[in-house]
Amino acid sequence: MHIHSCIADLRAALKGRGRIVFVPTMGNLHAGHISLMEQARAHGDTVVASIFVNRLQFGPNEDFDKYPRTFQADCDKLAAAGVDVLFAPTEADLYPEPQEYIVEPPAIQNVLDGEFRPGHFRGVATIVLKLFNIVQPQAALFGKKDYQQLMVIRNMTRQLALPIDIIGGETVRADDGLALSSRNGYLGPAERAEAPRLYRLLNEIRDAIRNGNRDFAALENAAIAGLTANGWKTDYVAVRQQSDLSVPAVADARLVILAASRLGATRLIDNIEV
Ligand code: PAJ
Repeated sequence: MHIHSCIADLRAALKGRGRIVFVPTMGNLHAGHISLMEQARAHGDTVVASIFVNRLQFGPNEDFDKYPRTFQADCDKLAAAGVDVLFAPTEADLYPEPQEYIVEPPAIQNVLDGEFRPGHFRGVATIVLKLFNIVQPQAALFGKKDYQQLMVIRNMTRQLALPIDIIGGETVRADDGLALSSRNGYLGPAERAEAPRLYRLLNEIRDAIRNGNRDFAALENAAIAGLTANGWKTDYVAVRQQSDLSVPAVADARLVILAASRLGATRLIDNIEV
């Protein structure tokens, strides 16, 4: 695996390498990331990963400083997964001057995770567009674990007519159902044992909807109560339309249930399609 930190070196290395498939990450890689790398192989000739902890998408009181940085272990995993090229820039490589030109997503950036993380999706859209311009891939993979992020990137790519196929990968979970996340490492043992409740409650809502319960607000509130009773602090549990994350009418099909809740200092997000 070739590793580049400098934009010009990366571009030179990618010349003539056929169809390029790109998987951007912030590192601290787990099996969820690796499954995207493995799926990438089927979509092109050269698989490019990136590792960059993007300051722009973290709020002032969020975990940018303590975000786990495990570069050597990450390189070993990427090489084992058959990744051809890793782009691992420093902040000086990507932000040599303040990033003043930004991508401002539309109203979708202010709902759900965007409501609780102001500016987050602006930071994500800006770095992803910049990475797309650097790597110039023909396809890129993103996890459904970050459902709203995938939607923001899909919509940006379509509206700006970027010649890139955006491919969504299924969420990879631990045996007990907890969605894998770099932030799971923040959980203490008791919190880790409690954490799968979030996915269990999402499944319960999905089953109830499939069985004909269309009182979405009552289902959301019951799940929030179940979380609160077990020590969670919930930002949202929301039944939404898959197409645009808007609030569904009673008869709507193609729903997704999304949740964000905190166990101690750790904020977990998850979702499940109905
Ligand atoms: P990061 O959180 O490192 O995630 C990188 C990619 O892995 C994202 O597309 C994410 O959705 C996917 N992913 C994370 N956990 C997953 C899981 N359990 N199963 C499947 N896929 C999973 O998302 C980011 O980084 C950043 O916002 C980024 C897009 C790199 C921009 O900075």
